[in-house]
Amino acid sequence: MTAPVVAAVVPAAGLGQRLGADGPKAMHLLGGEPMLVHSVRTLAAGPVDLVVVATPPGLGAEVLAQLAGAHPGAELSVVDGGATRSDSVRLALAALPPSVRVVLVHDAARPLVPAALVAAVVAAVEGGADAVVPGLPVTDTVKQVDGADVVVATVDRSALRAVQTPQGFRREVLDTAYAGPESGTATDDAGHVERAGGVVVVVPGAEEAFKVTRPLDLVLAEAVLAGRRQAGG
Ligand code: C5P
Repeated sequence: MTAPVVAAVVPAAGLGQRLGADGPKAMHLLGGEPMLVHSVRTLAAGPVDLVVVATPPGLGAEVLAQLAGAHPGAELSVVDGGATRSDSVRLALAALPPSVRVVLVHDAARPLVPAALVAAVVAAVEGGADAVVPGLPVTDTVKQVDGADVVVATVDRSALRAVQTPQGFRREVLDTAYAGPESGTATDDAGHVERAGGVVVVVPGAEEAFKVTRPLDLVLAEAVLAGRRQAGG
């Protein structure tokens, strides 16, 4: 097997408290399979050579067993995740072999990401971008409030994008961004790159790449998956 060039890091170590799940969110079932299995299967079916999953500490062997058969086109490894999403990503980045040049970071909790979006993000990085995020226009009106929940401004939503994963990076760019001091404010990977002074570009996102966070998201995800299965996809 040739050395991997495109890798996907999958943070899957969250506990999913907002989902009300009684185990790790990534292992919550969707259409009878853990969300993580759906995510890894889509990544491995495309231009990704290696998938590294950050699992809840101690669950690596169980996760590897669950993922057997879900990654025919890609190598797979697991690392113990950390206390925060950033910690989990940092630990997975440290496990990438030197041959890797392009890194995707994809939330396990976005199980229905279309394969075409994964391919588009990789293509944008291979086309020369340092950092790429999929984004969609914001449809709600967004208010800025003070500490007492009094509105201080209505933000111009035409200049806002709600960003998703997979986010894609030149490997050096992401490594450098994660090597910097932890600010605690970056809630995505591109945020680390921005803080380090890097340029991040937005490509069109996909509605089906939504993150399963709350119970209602799970209802939507089951409906989307049922629709796909009915359509033979
Ligand atoms: O909590 P949130 O929905 O933002 O989590 C996004 C992704 O990050 C999920 O796939 C979750 O499993 C992962 N995560 C992680 N390690 C943590 C917290 C979250 O890998 N400590």
